[in-house]
Amino acid sequence: MMNYNISLIKGDGIGLEIVDEATKVLNVVGKRFNINFEYKEYLMGGCAIDATGHPLPDETINGVLDSDACLFGAIGGPKWDNMPRELRPESGLLKFRKAMGVFANLRPAIVYDELINASSLKPEVIKDVNIMVVRELIGGIYFGEPKGRTETKGWNTMVYEIHEIQRIAHVAFKLAMKRDKKLCSVDKANVLDVSALWRQTVEKIAKQYPEVELSHMYVDNCAMQLIANPKQFDVILTGNIFGDILSDEASMLSGSIGLLPSASTGELTAIYEPIHGSAPDIAGQNKANPIATISSASMMLRYSLDEIEAANAIDNAIKKAMNDGYRTSDLSAYDCKELVTTSQMGDIIASNIR
Ligand code: IPM
Ligand code: MG
Repeated sequence: MMNYNISLIKGDGIGLEIVDEATKVLNVVGKRFNINFEYKEYLMGGCAIDATGHPLPDETINGVLDSDACLFGAIGGPKWDNMPRELRPESGLLKFRKAMGVFANLRPAIVYDELINASSLKPEVIKDVNIMVVRELIGGIYFGEPKGRTETKGWNTMVYEIHEIQRIAHVAFKLAMKRDKKLCSVDKANVLDVSALWRQTVEKIAKQYPEVELSHMYVDNCAMQLIANPKQFDVILTGNIFGDILSDEASMLSGSIGLLPSASTGELTAIYEPIHGSAPDIAGQNKANPIATISSASMMLRYSLDEIEAANAIDNAIKKAMNDGYRTSDLSAYDCKELVTTSQMGDIIASNIR
């Protein structure tokens, strides 16, 4: 029997509901594949501000570092939007990523056949799209110095050290090797020096992965190509802010943000979370779509715990639920045979695994 310590950060809003569905599914998959999960809960975001005065308590940092992996819900809400920047949930999130050393953020954009009409793009453009955006997460303009502001001036700096580019490039090439062996590195090398170093470094790393077909694209062109012809992409490798923007764009190919998971990995630990936010407008109503979080749990099994069969079982159970026409309210307009609640969707996916 394998034993794993999983830290849970439910956070705020719908985070409380969706993480419960993910652990429900994990427990069932654990029974089937002989895996035991021990959970410990930690506070972060608005709930942590309310309880401790700070969005990221030390106890959370230490607890997550001690665990095998962290499953994260969502944080933030209108109640905390007027806090000073230092104390806002977003600042807590950036500090958390940095403290956990999670430099590689993996954001898949997958189009499910069952939901092909949910996208605003034409079905023939998006059919079979399966893209993995690899975003550098703890460097670049989000963290570069100098930064600051006065009454009349504000500034941030996009900096990458060569070792930061090398380590994220390795992650992207390794992933490409397990997929369709195509990697597109996205930068702004026609304008930015930091991008020129990025491009040159990625070229050099590519020599260690001769089977992977490498291309480079300027970020503005990539934004266009993602809409014009998304099927050309397999793995997209890019820096922090370009990845922030492009991953939101890519997520809309699939039509629903309620389906997409993400992984943030590094040398110390890894964090798995849905791409969507805390949706305060529907919090506490048993209405949210738990699939992105359940799918994040599957990524956790696949990438942190190497429990590939268990991960596949969850992915198939999700697909079956979609195929059978079960929909939460966000997707009720698309081939819905039965409208279900958050917890019913969790039950259905769990029973598909049994
Ligand atoms: C994301 C979010 C965050 C980011 C914000 C909330 C700080 O947009 O995870 O993409 O910009 O990284
Ligand atoms: Mg973002």
